[in-house]
Amino acid sequence: MTRTLTVRRLDPGDLSGVPLDWYDGDPDLSIFWDALSAVFPEGENFFVRAVRAHRDLIDDPELLARVDAFIGQEAAHGAAHRALNRSLERRIPSAKRVDRELRWVLKELAPKLFGARQRLAITCALEHFTALLAAQLLEDERHRAAIDDRLTPLWLWHAYEEVEHEDVAFDVYRAAGGNELERRAIMALTTGLFIGFMAYFYAVMAADQKRARRPTTWLRLGYFLCMKPGLTRRLVPDYLAYYRRGFHPSQKDTAPLLETWRERLFGSDGAIPLTRRAA
Ligand SMILES: [Fe+2]
Ligand SMILES: [Fe+2]
Repeated sequence: MTRTLTVRRLDPGDLSGVPLDWYDGDPDLSIFWDALSAVFPEGENFFVRAVRAHRDLIDDPELLARVDAFIGQEAAHGAAHRALNRSLERRIPSAKRVDRELRWVLKELAPKLFGARQRLAITCALEHFTALLAAQLLEDERHRAAIDDRLTPLWLWHAYEEVEHEDVAFDVYRAAGGNELERRAIMALTTGLFIGFMAYFYAVMAADQKRARRPTTWLRLGYFLCMKPGLTRRLVPDYLAYYRRGFHPSQKDTAPLLETWRERLFGSDGAIPLTRRAA
């Protein structure tokens, strides 16, 4: 069963007072999330362009409606993260550099290296990553407890919608005639590129805070990702599932997770201050 998507707009509020160690009072881990926030606006612009380029190939009105909602959701995420990134830029100037360099890679370089459908396959791979990371933010209360209260609405709203729309790009890829070999090969390539770029952007933003040359910075990050709470270690099984023949994101049942969080976040007493919501 396909799910209906809702476009919601969030007002992130005044983020100027958010401290640099906003994640668990830990500057090294905060840089990891800051680096993710720095790549979201241009990354999501790339997703939108890749999906929109195939809109004309879609006959199914239900999928068309989901595509339009997907574009609306990603545009709203980009706008909200830009607000956070602007507040970061005052204290971490390299956030601007990350945005600029990624824009060049995704807007100028990627179309020269990859065809339109391959860029859509890259989008599917990255949407799989974001959905897996997002599910952990919702499922593992250690993350929620670690986030500064002023940023909780932004991260949880974004996480919810990443899980909610995780299969849209995938269905467009299928409608565009995507094949299993290309999909899996692109996932392997995208994984390497994603890890490489994130390590580079992390180093750039850590250098801004004079933390990139400290071994403890990298040990702390490695421990967080691979050991406790093991952000990336925990997503390995679901990541590997992507390589299965016939894989589809809906094979992982996220309906109970979304049901729980829909009410908590967007219900009448929900925690998220939305400025607009459209079905
Ligand atoms: Fe997003
Ligand atoms: Fe997304």
